[in-house]
Amino acid sequence: MRHRGWLAAAVIFLTVLVVAAFGVAHSTISALPEPGAFETTLAMKAKDWYIRRATRGVLPPAPTKTAASIAAGRTLFGMDCAPCHGQNGRTPAPIGKAMYPRVSSLGSHEVQQMSDRELFWVIKNGIRLSGMPGFAHIDNDEQIWQLTYYVHSLDVHTTVKPGKMYPGATSLKSTRQTGSGDLE
Ligand code: HEC
Repeated sequence: MRHRGWLAAAVIFLTVLVVAAFGVAHSTISALPEPGAFETTLAMKAKDWYIRRATRGVLPPAPTKTAASIAAGRTLFGMDCAPCHGQNGRTPAPIGKAMYPRVSSLGSHEVQQMSDRELFWVIKNGIRLSGMPGFAHIDNDEQIWQLTYYVHSLDVHTTVKPGKMYPGATSLKSTRQTGSGDLE
């Protein structure tokens, strides 16, 4: 009887081992293939959980939302964000499309349903293990709130002027060629 227990355990162990080996052999860290629904759902749930937890704390005070602060956010967006998220924030640029995870459409329901606090946190800190950079060392808190307000104005039902591109730059490549890699 005891032998049978050991045998069953060994069979289960070997099966798990074979399945895991098969999984590793057939998985890839290439950013080219479109990720499956299971992987995407799992990654999104984990990300949402981390962002919700991080925004429970105290954040720097938010300035009043005005037409001027949204316009300031639009200019910053053209410099900092358009190279990946696209000029209008909704149609990712080629670089953004080539990333895994793909860049989000900022007009999508998933992004628009995030609170100002959550957006602020994501823009300031970025998302680890993704292409989304943290802007804490690039923009000050007021500018990050302005970016937050601009992103929240990108609801698909509204028509907004696309962000202004970094002067002289049409893509990250040309930014690099002019030697001004840090987007200020
Ligand atoms: C180098 C490319 C790159 C740049 C530049 C960039 N982003 Fe992103 N961003 C990403 C990627 C990739 C994701 C998707 C991350 C994910 O889904 O885990 C993302 C996601 C986001 C999200 C959605 C977060 C979520 O939970 O789905 C917001 C909001 C965002 N970016 C805002 C901005 C803003 C505002 C800027 C400029 C200040 C910016 N991004 C600059 C690559 C970039």
